[in-house]
Amino acid sequence: MSDYFEKEEVVKEYDSKIAGRIISYLKPYKALVAVALAALVFSTLGELAVPVLQQRLIDRAVMARFLAVKAPEAVTARLSASAQKTLDELYAVRGAIRLGDTVFVPQDERIRISPGSEKELGAHKILDGSPWYAFTFDEKRSGAREAAAARGDLFLTGPAGAAIRISDLAALSAEEREAVRSGDLALIKTTVLLILLILAVVFILTFAETWASVLVAQKVMKDIRLALFKKTISQSTDMLSRNPVGRIVTRLTGDVETINEFFTSVLVAFLKDLSVMAGALVTLFILSPRLGVVVLVTLPPVLVVSALSRFKARDAFRRQRLASSRVNAYLSERLSGVQVVQLFLGEKRSGREFGERNGELFSANMLEMYVYAIFRPIVDFLSVFTTAVVICTGAWLVLNLSLSLGVLVAFINLTALFYSPVMDIAEKYTLLQSAMAGGERVFALLDISEMIPDAGTRSVDGRGHISFRNVNFSYKEGEEVLKDLSFEVKPGEMAAIVGYTGAGKTTITNVLTRLWDIQSGSITLDGTAIRDIPLDELRRTVLPVLQEVFLFSGTVRDNITLGLSLRDEEIENAARAVHAHEFIEKLPQGYDTVLSEGAANISSGQRQLLSFARVIAHNPALVILDEATSSIDTETERLIQLGIRRVLSGRTSIVIAHRLSTIRHADRIIVLSGGRLVEDGRHDELIAQNGLYAGLYRLQFDAPV
Ligand SMILES: Nc1ncnc2c1ncn2[C@@H]1O[C@H](COP(=O)(O)OP(=O)(O)O)[C@@H](O)[C@H]1O
Ligand SMILES: [Mg+2]
Repeated sequence: MSDYFEKEEVVKEYDSKIAGRIISYLKPYKALVAVALAALVFSTLGELAVPVLQQRLIDRAVMARFLAVKAPEAVTARLSASAQKTLDELYAVRGAIRLGDTVFVPQDERIRISPGSEKELGAHKILDGSPWYAFTFDEKRSGAREAAAARGDLFLTGPAGAAIRISDLAALSAEEREAVRSGDLALIKTTVLLILLILAVVFILTFAETWASVLVAQKVMKDIRLALFKKTISQSTDMLSRNPVGRIVTRLTGDVETINEFFTSVLVAFLKDLSVMAGALVTLFILSPRLGVVVLVTLPPVLVVSALSRFKARDAFRRQRLASSRVNAYLSERLSGVQVVQLFLGEKRSGREFGERNGELFSANMLEMYVYAIFRPIVDFLSVFTTAVVICTGAWLVLNLSLSLGVLVAFINLTALFYSPVMDIAEKYTLLQSAMAGGERVFALLDISEMIPDAGTRSVDGRGHISFRNVNFSYKEGEEVLKDLSFEVKPGEMAAIVGYTGAGKTTITNVLTRLWDIQSGSITLDGTAIRDIPLDELRRTVLPVLQEVFLFSGTVRDNITLGLSLRDEEIENAARAVHAHEFIEKLPQGYDTVLSEGAANISSGQRQLLSFARVIAHNPALVILDEATSSIDTETERLIQLGIRRVLSGRTSIVIAHRLSTIRHADRIIVLSGGRLVEDGRHDELIAQNGLYAGLYRLQFDAPV
């Protein structure tokens, strides 16, 4: 049982077909998906806006340095076309202040000047080397006009505003300085408030994004689980016997869970990471193309490292999944068979075997740890290294006046934002791959369609006339189990089937109830081929008491009705007919006693009586007892047979029994050997024939020859 996990891949390369099919499950939830995506887009924009606002805050409000551009008409006319264009651009900048023939341009806009133009403008003494502080007279800057008028020696004053060299700011009194800079204080306040507001909105959007994506993922999982369950429960016994229960349960739980991860961790988070990275990169280039290139250059090594870690992590993940499923499988098997383990003194051996698997899981987990322990620090280091390069290059550019301090700070923050998802993307890629593998298996199961065909439309009259004509049947191709089998059971007869173990007795039940379909020959019920009878009608008419009793966890009553709505009286009558009523009454809560898992709180004989009561309560026209009486004492068995005959008097029954004493009075005894009918007749006739039946009978009763 622990083997079939090993054949299953836990990871698979990205497959657009599978991804597309997973995504198709989103269709009913378009609105929620739209909410998640919109929240994602806007929260990303918000996150990117913060560093940009920081840059404005530092450059325009805190540093507030201006470049003085003084270009009289006469000089401008002699400039080259590109230098003139640069000048026009500078004049048009937002926040530029014109005082007479000098225009004060915010220092962070200096990057607009190309090195060539810089030289030309410098040669004509158009650019002033020292930084200025410039402002307009407005209501936010109360007292600034007066201060400028009072210190006319330091200020360059125009009708609308004034400017002062940064170096001269120190010469002002504290009050004057405060008056002059009061407008910046207001700007700082509003910008900080704006940043806080954006962060709050990002917080809400992140919540909405998580909420919507988890909700969608859970709804999709619910849908897939239901579809899988419905699909599985109606499959043919053939298909189900080829797929171990454990594997199907894994589909329903583990594999579906990987699809959940696909939505929450992969799809949404992946999109988020990618958009943050792309957005950060674009913003970097807008702020400073030169510094943007620096960040971009450090990207390849990071990608190489994360790709490497991805491969290693995938191997580790694969080993870890395998080891943990081996541990789980072993554990559940040994625990469900714990009595066998204890009785056959297997504790020590089981302990050793479990120890091995447990050790594998330990080393697989450790391997996974190493992968993360090694690669995460490397990626972290690379991101720190990049930041260091950005700071060095940026500082040099700041010193050259080619970059403003605000842009540098924004760069450091954006670089961190850019690198934060890199490692996650590698991890998510592994999740994506496991979702591909899980999805593939889930869809493979969903696509299986091996239901027993149910196209019949013909009704039967329910007398219970059975006829087998030249029936051939095999479970697996080439291994015939029923060979050219023909027999008949007339309405109201009690027929018995005897034969060695493996002769094909249970198989007759299986093909008669169409758990399996025969390959050739014909089986008719009341003259109609069973294939032409709707399955539910067939199964209402023919009901076997299975060789292996299966009781569900639930009350005694539930186990008798199995969902059929029956009156208490009907349930009791059924129980009385098979002599189950007596013991049920003695149970602590009678018919409402809850049977524990596997119905361990009642004896196996009692379990069998319950399964009789179940069949009788469903009142089929034809009952099959498949060696059902083996764990019941002879006396009870006799009583049951009497009861059944009474309940179903005039109806048909087929009894498959080991104990030949119970079938002596059968109307017809069918003797099977190797899937063939070898003898057929009444007890006395068969004894007289002195064939297989007579032999079996003598064996059981040790009767003299
Ligand atoms: N689900 C199955 N798949 C394949 N072979 C089966 C299956 N069930 C039974 N067989 C085979 O069919 C033969 C008849 O089994 P069965 O009808 O259960 O015998 P019995 O007479 O003991 O009830 C056996 O050889 C058995 O191995
Ligand atoms: Mg059997």
